[in-house]
Order: sequence, then C-alpha cells, then structure tokens
Amino acid sequence: MGLLAIIGGSGFTSLPSLTQIESKPVETPYGATSAPVTRGRLAEREVLFLPRHGPSHHLPPHRINYRANLWALRASGADRVIGLAAVGGITPSFGPCVLAVPDQIIDYTHGREHTIHDGITGGVDHIDFTEPYCESLRQVLISACARVGEAVVPRGTYAATQGPRLESAAEIQRHERDGCDMVGMTGMPEAGLARELDLCYASLAFVVNWAAGKSGNVITMKEIEENLALCVERVLTVLETVAAD
Ligand code: HPA
Repeated sequence: MGLLAIIGGSGFTSLPSLTQIESKPVETPYGATSAPVTRGRLAEREVLFLPRHGPSHHLPPHRINYRANLWALRASGADRVIGLAAVGGITPSFGPCVLAVPDQIIDYTHGREHTIHDGITGGVDHIDFTEPYCESLRQVLISACARVGEAVVPRGTYAATQGPRLESAAEIQRHERDGCDMVGMTGMPEAGLARELDLCYASLAFVVNWAAGKSGNVITMKEIEENLALCVERVLTVLETVAAD
C-alpha cells in the first residue's frame, strides 16, 4: 500500500505533531510545488505533508500549482490524499467550527491549470467524476471523527470559488440554490486532478465563518482566524487517528 498524504490549507502550514524524516523539492512536469514535500511520522505512521499555500502562506488560491502538488505527492509514493479545507458555511448545519466530510463539489473557479489531460503533457481523456471524492477515505475520516468523539457532518456539497475575495451575498444565495452547503477556494481543481492521477482523495472541511450574507455581519479575518484556532487541535486529532489506522 502507498502512503497517506495530507495537504494542509489555511491554519496548517505545518503539522505540529508530525516528526519530520525528510523534506525535499520534487521536480514535476508542471513546475514547482507549493513547498518541498515533507515525509514524516504522524502517530508512528509514515505520511507525506504539503502545505498548499506554501510554507509561509504566500500563495493565494488561484496561484497554487495544483497540478505540480498532486503530481509530486503521487511521485513521492502517495495513494491516498486528505485535503484540509477551511470553509464558509452556507446551509444551517454548517455553522462555525463544524467539521464536515463533503461528498459533492461544484466548480466555480476559472483560469486555473486544472487538468493533466491537456493534450500537451498528457493525452486527451475524460475521467468519471460522478462521485468526486474517494468513498473509502471519506468513511475512514467519518469513523475517525466518531472514534475521537468529534461530531461531523458526513456529507455536503462544496462550492469551489475563485477568490481571493470572499463572495457577495447574491453569489452565496446562488450557491445555495445550486445545492451547496459550504464554500472554499481550493477544492477545485485539487479533487479533479487527484482523480485524474488515480489518487484516492477526500477532504476534511472545517467551518471558519458563516458565508457572506448568512450572519448579518461583515466577515473579518479576525473572526476567521479565531475560529481556525478553535479547529486546529480537533483536526489534528482526527488526522492522527486516521494515520494510526
Ligand atoms: N468563502 C470562500 N472561501 C472560504 C470562506 C468563504 O466564506 N471561508 C473560508 N474559506
């Protein structure tokens, strides 16, 4: 079996409980990854770690080289990937500090290098994406939450927006009409590329704010950072449980 890889998002430029074995740049046909790929031990198990926004959180969502990141993780031996995702909550069950494991996604991003099947570095192909997340890894995440006593919403549709600005209230209303429960800026093309590269990919989402227009207040970075801080330990505990499995 291959390695479990974790892609860290906002709040996770490193994994504090990861004991590093090595950290090295990986050359890819798509250019540089967000950071060197770290190989380390989490709960005594070897895992890979890559912070998608870079080691100092300098890459906004639309400038992340998703193709390089996913390709490098596979080349480093990953067969399963957990993408951590700070999200805004849209529907009532997705309030701040809720953990969720989405089962569907809608891509509202544009202008991103989103495929390896571009007819240049890779041939033309059309992968199935009916179920965009790897069901076995979703179930592993859901049962890890249960084991550590963390309530989790075991489903939900993720709206992947372009950012880096947050949405207007009307955009969020549109996402809600489309059936979205949560909104983030990095879920695509990450999930699609993982499928193209035959990686089993799931996301552990944690809500850091009510999405635009949902709370009656403007969204502040202070609010997002405070909620993020409340999620970090809980997310780490879930990840350690998954790694130990
Ligand atoms: N919108 C988009 N992405 C996000 C949000 C949001 O409200 N919160 C965290 N990531």
